Amino acid sequence: MSLTPIGGRLFDGSGRKITTASLREQKLRHESITCLTAYDYASARLVDEAGIDMVLVGDSLAQTMLGYENTLSVTMDEMLHHVKAVRRGVKNALLVADMPYGSYQIDAKTAISNAARFVKEGGAEVVKIEGGEKRAELIRQIIDAEIPVAGHIGLTPQSVNVMGGYKVQGKSLGGIEQLMRDAVALDHAGVACLYLEGIPREVAAMITAEVDTPTIGIGAGPECDGQVLVFHDILNLTFGPPAKFVRRYGDAAALITNAVQAFRADVRSHQYPSDEESYHLPKETKAGLDTVLARKRAMRR
Ligand code: KIV
Repeated sequence: MSLTPIGGRLFDGSGRKITTASLREQKLRHESITCLTAYDYASARLVDEAGIDMVLVGDSLAQTMLGYENTLSVTMDEMLHHVKAVRRGVKNALLVADMPYGSYQIDAKTAISNAARFVKEGGAEVVKIEGGEKRAELIRQIIDAEIPVAGHIGLTPQSVNVMGGYKVQGKSLGGIEQLMRDAVALDHAGVACLYLEGIPREVAAMITAEVDTPTIGIGAGPECDGQVLVFHDILNLTFGPPAKFVRRYGDAAALITNAVQAFRADVRSHQYPSDEESYHLPKETKAGLDTVLARKRAMRR
């Protein structure tokens, strides 16, 4: 068996290391691709070990992890900090890093150098860029620099101010035409996968049938080649009403609140820590200490 070392990970043909090539095979086999966001070591490990195909360090961490109002404020350095942590937790999944607002809009040189930082310093395997046909040339240049790119079209949160809010895209005939042009342009540019966010199911189905690139939907219906959701959304960690497309698979907020309240109550009532949860002196030291204390007490009398 030949072993090819890739970034410290081994492709031995038997494992399930996901690559940009294996994503395309999944599309051809009609095997749904799974993707979740993760932003730190612990969540990355859990997501990877559960067998999810792709881990996205999304700029949604601006809201979920950093408490910003939208994704526009998060910086390259903040994103990189999280990408590095996630890298340490992910073995098999394909690791995608989101290029934050301002990191690729200025010029191609800056965009390539920021994308390269995610690969070189962060260990990302793919970088994600929002925008359709107007980004196709830039995406070509980043791919020319040996960096795989994921496209992201439809409701692109970095354009919130231009869109006038978080609105489902592609609802008019003109909107559908634009989305089709966007998808085809990115397909031809050679993106590794295409995130479709906030678009009607019928339009996502047309795009998925039209392009060779695997499509990953979020609020884009079931016909996409795969689905992505935000880790905090599926676990009720977002402190607000979920979007229509979110399905909650657990209530981590309740779990954490119960655990924290129980800890507080135990400390207040001296139930924590117990003797079993305490360290003890070795027998001989304890005996010696008892003798010293007894002597001191006797001298005080
Ligand atoms: O930042 C993010 O989490 C994303 C996904 C919602 C696709 O871009």
